[in-house]
Amino acid sequence: MTIVEPPPGPLLRESCIPVLETARLVLRVPQIEDAAAIAEHANNRKIAEMTANLPYPYRPADGRAFIEQASASAGTHFAVFHKREQGPEFIGMCGLAVRAGETAPELGYWFGEPFWGRGLATEATRAVIDYAFTETDADRLLGAARVVNPASRRVLEKCGFQWCGAGLCRVKALGASVPVDRFQLDKSTWASLRAWGSTALPRMSMAHH
Ligand SMILES: CC(C)(COP(=O)(O)OP(=O)(O)OC[C@H]1O[C@@H](n2cnc3c(N)ncnc32)[C@H](O)[C@@H]1OP(=O)(O)O)[C@@H](O)C(=O)NCCC(=O)NCCS
Repeated sequence: MTIVEPPPGPLLRESCIPVLETARLVLRVPQIEDAAAIAEHANNRKIAEMTANLPYPYRPADGRAFIEQASASAGTHFAVFHKREQGPEFIGMCGLAVRAGETAPELGYWFGEPFWGRGLATEATRAVIDYAFTETDADRLLGAARVVNPASRRVLEKCGFQWCGAGLCRVKALGASVPVDRFQLDKSTWASLRAWGSTALPRMSMAHH
């Protein structure tokens, strides 16, 4: 992940959240001009039913309200863009927020259905985790996935999160609470995984007796 200085813009001028860049993605604070793309992809029952706070149906006005709240809230919300020759394409959201009663920030994310299955959620989530552990004072991150959401569980596991319990989470789009698995990642585990990733595999040879 590379952290680059944010380009000037009305919302970014007030924000100290940087722009993050990975091999395929750029992550930045959502801006009002992203509202239509956010609403287009968020207006999907399959997404709303897996996330706590997304309304369904999701209208352009919901996108605008979210962007305004995101810039005013204490949480960190990144709009995620896929780099393309024709210019960046909005693909989803990934962010951190502290839930009531918790001290550690919780990761939340959703990606537009056309972009599923290409490792993009994992790439974006890793960038946000790297950001959290290098640019904020978080020493532990939380995650949660509905028990019926193996793809999200897998994203958390691929990012090093470990299961730490079960619970219930209210899903706005369902108007009900549903069972979730809870996960956590502590900073020392993250540091160890990052260091492991930069080492070569051991050389192997046959031992002769
Ligand atoms: C969950 C979500 C973010 C995954 O996005 P994605 O870009 O497809 O994720 P990735 O490609 O990085 O990784 C998905 C992993 O889940 C696996 N997976 C997908 N569907 C699966 C299933 N039904 N059972 C088991 N594993 C599954 C994939 O194989 C992949 O793992 P792998 O790399 O080991 O093969 C996306 O589907 C989404 O936005 N869903 C709706 C909203 C949501 O669930 N948000 C999370 C709330 S906790």
